Amino acid sequence: MDTHDALIRQEFTKQADAYASNPTIVDSDWSGRLVESLGPTSDDRVLEVATGPGYVALAFATVAREVVGVDLTDAPLAVARRNQADRGVTNVSFQSADAKALPWPDGSFDIVVCRLAFHHFESPARVLAEMVRVCCDGGKVAVEDMIASEQAVGADYYNRWERLRDPSHVSALSLGQLVSLYRDAELEIAGLRLEERTQDVERWLRTTETASDTGEKIRRLIRDDARRQISGTPIFDDLEGRLCFSHRMVTIVGLKRGEDAIAMSDDVTHPAAGEDDADPEEQ
Ligand SMILES: C[S@@+](CC[C@H](N)C(=O)[O-])C[C@H]1O[C@@H](n2cnc3c(N)ncnc32)[C@H](O)[C@@H]1O
Repeated sequence: MDTHDALIRQEFTKQADAYASNPTIVDSDWSGRLVESLGPTSDDRVLEVATGPGYVALAFATVAREVVGVDLTDAPLAVARRNQADRGVTNVSFQSADAKALPWPDGSFDIVVCRLAFHHFESPARVLAEMVRVCCDGGKVAVEDMIASEQAVGADYYNRWERLRDPSHVSALSLGQLVSLYRDAELEIAGLRLEERTQDVERWLRTTETASDTGEKIRRLIRDDARRQISGTPIFDDLEGRLCFSHRMVTIVGLKRGEDAIAMSDDVTHPAAGEDDADPEEQ
């Protein structure tokens, strides 16, 4: 098995229950905003990639015809099925699948969405290509994830303390990098939203069962970050004196253009000789 996949499974088997009960993750207003950004109809078939405990898939199921949630790790999928049973939802199914090789033919879904997982992928471009492939022409592909600084020093520093806490964290991308991924995947950006999600550092460290010496190192890095403003992460003590920081989150919604539009972009980029000089009035 791929070593990174093994690391993912190890981490998310360990974290499954604590992750699923984190109030930030459970928050139905948050998953509801993602649903709103994509505006599914009652005819739509939706795929959620890296579904974890399934909150996003279950939120889409309140509107869409059918929702499928996939994940590499069995433990969160078991939590997702439990959540589904508790809510009595029948138009969702959860199954095991790898985001790098989705087991569906081209164009199988109207909406393909992935929340809080791109920072775990070694090749986010490959996953995005798979999401685009299984989406139909005219369908929507959305990624929501935390973002790092546009400055390499800040991004490296931030990713360092994230990786110390969870070794399956590869790299949070900057907004610019995510936008470039969308451009390279030939998606038309149809929506973009930024927001902050507050994390209580102690709770966040408990979720990953981080060892106490590593936890101490992470607290030091975060406090230094607050003092020196290295990564651009908002860091503060809350009213009860708990150390907190905010994940800077982005939601990007892309429209998958049809084959005709993609073929046309070649004509636009490389117009035939003399075409650029033509007077539009005379055409
Ligand atoms: C931080 S959780 C996010 C869960 C959920 N999307 C949410 O918003 O709460 C990341 C999830 O990504 C899954 N994952 C990581 N790499 C994956 C891959 N290659 N294919 C499918 N799932 C993957 C993990 O197993 C884990 O459940």
